[in-house]
Formats: sequence, structure tokens, C-alpha cells
Amino acid sequence: MKHLLGTDGLDRDTALAVLDTSDGLKRTLLGREVRKLPTLRGRTVITMFYENSTRTRVSFEIAGKWMSADVVNVSAGGSSVGKGESLRDTALTLAAAGADCVIVRHPASGAAHRLAGWLAEAGTSVVNAGDGTHEHPTQALLDAATLRDRLGDVEGRRIGVVGDVLHSRVARSNVHLLTTLGAEVVLVAPPTLLPTGVADWSVGDAGSLVVSHELDPELPTLDAVMVLRVQAERMHGGFFPSAREYAIAYGLSENRLRLLPEHAPVLHPGPMLRGMEISAAVADSPRAAITQQVTNGVHVRMAVLYHLLAGEEDGS
Ligand code: CP
Repeated sequence: MKHLLGTDGLDRDTALAVLDTSDGLKRTLLGREVRKLPTLRGRTVITMFYENSTRTRVSFEIAGKWMSADVVNVSAGGSSVGKGESLRDTALTLAAAGADCVIVRHPASGAAHRLAGWLAEAGTSVVNAGDGTHEHPTQALLDAATLRDRLGDVEGRRIGVVGDVLHSRVARSNVHLLTTLGAEVVLVAPPTLLPTGVADWSVGDAGSLVVSHELDPELPTLDAVMVLRVQAERMHGGFFPSAREYAIAYGLSENRLRLLPEHAPVLHPGPMLRGMEISAAVADSPRAAITQQVTNGVHVRMAVLYHLLAGEEDGS
């Protein structure tokens, strides 16, 4: 693996290899006082975030440090981006400074792909940490790792993805990955929060995609429910339905949790809007796998860095 730009096009074997590596790293580090492996000693990883982040940026930094890489964090606010430097010039500067891997979050869909093209000559790997409304591949991988922890396997499972699908890179990456791993994904959203081209999203051969506008009839059929964040910052023309209508029709309340089979966990990529997307009682219940997702995020990102920087070079 040379880059991780999306889950669209990530084949089943590679995805499973990353997930298995993540499981192995988790077992290796479990209960250790010093969580440090020498695997990436001498390699330099640079995170470059043009949008806010807590989970993704911190877990990539921890992942790199636990593997002994040198990790440097660049944010748009504190760098020469603030003086007007372009993404291309910034990336070429970081590669010239010695980056083996650049991890990028950017508001423009397609930014990570552009970066991979510009850095091809330098040989620098690129990881997409979220590009606009397009993809967030490591989020989907950590979600799959959490589903495997809770359900044993993803294959044959029916996974609900609920909420603001229109603006969600998490939804798109999960549709690609979970169907590639053999799941049926049910997207549940109001018509105003579904992209018009959703029927054309690429779906893995082993799985399938269903779209619904009603949550309650779907809940008893699901093996897991993934609640999406409502991305008000991307809604320049206002939000319809209103926050109150949304909470009534789609918010995961305690009453709705009772409709979900007992074995089915609740996931949320964070940050959560408690009281609107999900009630505080559900978010804090043992059914919620939200902190487990964050922990898995560190191990999955360690696994991704391993496959990019220490794994067998296959030229892909
Ligand atoms: N899930 C996610 O990407 O969270 P952050 O925006 O905090 O990184």
C-alpha cells in the first residue's frame, strides 16, 4: 500500500490485512506500561490539518509515537498557509523537509488525491484524514474494527447509518468498506440530507446498499446502528428539518434503543450533538461503543502507518 486515500477501491484482502494488523497491535500493547514499538524508528510522519479535529489528529499522533516515528503536526492556523501558501507548495515543502508520510484533512473533496499526485516524485505516502464530504477511510476502518469486536464479523450483518448522509464522508467511506466486507448497509436520512447521487455510490460486490427515510421500522432489523453527526458548518442554506423535528424523527433516544436488538451496538464517529442526534443516556450506555471506537482508532492508525511505511512494498 503506497497511499490510503479512500475505502473506494480498497480491496477486501487489504482491508482485512489492516484490520488484522490492528487487532495484533492491540493484543501486543494490551496491559503494557510502556506502549512503544520500534517499528517506525527513523521515519517522519507529518499531520496537516486544514479543518478542526480532536480524535483523528490526536490518534494519528499517538499512533506514530507509539511506533517510534517522529511526528510533526502542522495546522493551517499556525503555518504559512495563513500567509496564503497553496496546498501544493505546503505539501512539497513538507516532503522536502523529509516527510515519509503526510496525513491530510482538508475541506475540499479530492484534496488528498491531488496531494498524492503532487508528492509522487518525492515518494511520500499520503493518508486522507477526511476531505470535504468525500471520504474518511481511517474512520471507516476503525468502525469496522469496532463492529468486529462487538459482533465477531461484519459479513452478513445489516448496519444502519443514520442522519446527515449528505455531508458525511464517514457514511460514504463506510458504505464502500462495509459492503466490501459483506455487510448490507441501510442509509436512513430525511430526503433533504441524502445526496441525489446516492444510488450511484460504489458498493462492494459482497454486500448491498439500501436507502430509507424512516428509522423506527429499520431498527429491529439492524445488527448495529451508526449515528452520524449533523454537520451544521456545511449547511450554508439553513437546516431542514429543524433540530427539534430531526431529534423527534431520527434522534437515537432510549425508547428507540429498545427497538434495536440486544446484541446491536451503537456507534458514533464524534463529535456528538447530545440531545439531538443521540440522547445522553444512550451515548453513555453500555450499548454505545463510542469510546471503544476512539481506542480502536489508535490501533487502526498504527496499522495503516505500518502497512504504508513498514509493510511489504507492492507498488500499489
Ligand atoms: N470522527 C472524527 O473525525 O473526529 P474528529 O473530527 O475529532 O477528528
